[in-house]
Amino acid sequence: MREEILSLKNQAISQIHLAKTAEELEEIRINYLGRSGKLTQLFKNLSSEQIDEKKLNGLLLNEAKATLTTSIASRKNSLKESARDWFDPTIPGIKPTIGHLHLITQAIDEIAKTFIQIGFVRVRYPEVEWDWFAFEGLNMPKDHPARDEWETFFITSAPDPKFGQMVLTPHTSSGQIREMKRVKIPPIRMINIAKCYRRQIDTSHVPMFHQFEGLVVDKDISIVNLKGTLDYFARNFFGKERITRLRPFHFQFTEPSFEVDVSCGICRGRGCKLCKEGWLELGGAGMVHPTVLKNGGVDPDKYSGFAFGWGVERTFMMKAGLSIPDIRLLYSSDLRFLKQF
Ligand code: DAH
Repeated sequence: MREEILSLKNQAISQIHLAKTAEELEEIRINYLGRSGKLTQLFKNLSSEQIDEKKLNGLLLNEAKATLTTSIASRKNSLKESARDWFDPTIPGIKPTIGHLHLITQAIDEIAKTFIQIGFVRVRYPEVEWDWFAFEGLNMPKDHPARDEWETFFITSAPDPKFGQMVLTPHTSSGQIREMKRVKIPPIRMINIAKCYRRQIDTSHVPMFHQFEGLVVDKDISIVNLKGTLDYFARNFFGKERITRLRPFHFQFTEPSFEVDVSCGICRGRGCKLCKEGWLELGGAGMVHPTVLKNGGVDPDKYSGFAFGWGVERTFMMKAGLSIPDIRLLYSSDLRFLKQF
């Protein structure tokens, strides 16, 4: 009987360890310790044994019963615990959120690429700039009324005797003089994409925005080169069938000056709600003023050039056909908005 008790006990213990559910454990309990269980049966057989045998086997049986009872209980507990962090590898995982470049960064990259393809060099100049580069060098002397259009942030530091006050760049045109001074001898083919700052905030203006400024200076540069470059940009950035037109305008740093329009992508020039009689306004352009060339150290008798400067946000929104009710949304860091791009 001794061997039988030990082998039943071992058998039961191994089954308990393999059990995966409380139901299975209950079945094992009934099978060994139930009313007609295997161990219970041996308890019943004890009565027919000799006194000495009875004592020893009785002890062994009780010990086996106690061991099985506690093993079943502890296995039950451990099953409960592992159920808490139970892992099913077949359940589809939770995808981690993947970020992406801000839509204005995407636009900047695309604009840069479009111009680099035809030989422009991308440059960047200081965001904190001297008045001279932002205004005076661009043919806007101190107290000139034209300056009012660039609602400028001034830095409260001592002005430089030569370059005047420090300002936050109100437009990328300040890069024109910087680039001429850097290259010294044309040809120049610059695309300057940078942050600009103006004291303005409402649904269509933000105090920090972006512009891209093109400058080409070489021998015999004419309006034809300007128009060709603008049409190239329109075709490649907005779409094959898009064209540009020049409207006479005035800027201090270009002569003649223009406003550039691009044909509307929705109505294709026929006129719709989105545009003005088939055209959308992109921004300023013109032939570099001789005084500006001189200020950049370039001889206006030998060289000529064209320039253009447009807002990245505005240009991008025109491409995407986005009608964003409030431009400030672009910089609100609201993921519900940004995730769409
Ligand atoms: N800097 C001008 C602005 O911020 C835009 C501009 C106009 C740039 C004419 C140019 C240009 O290069 O030729 O409004």
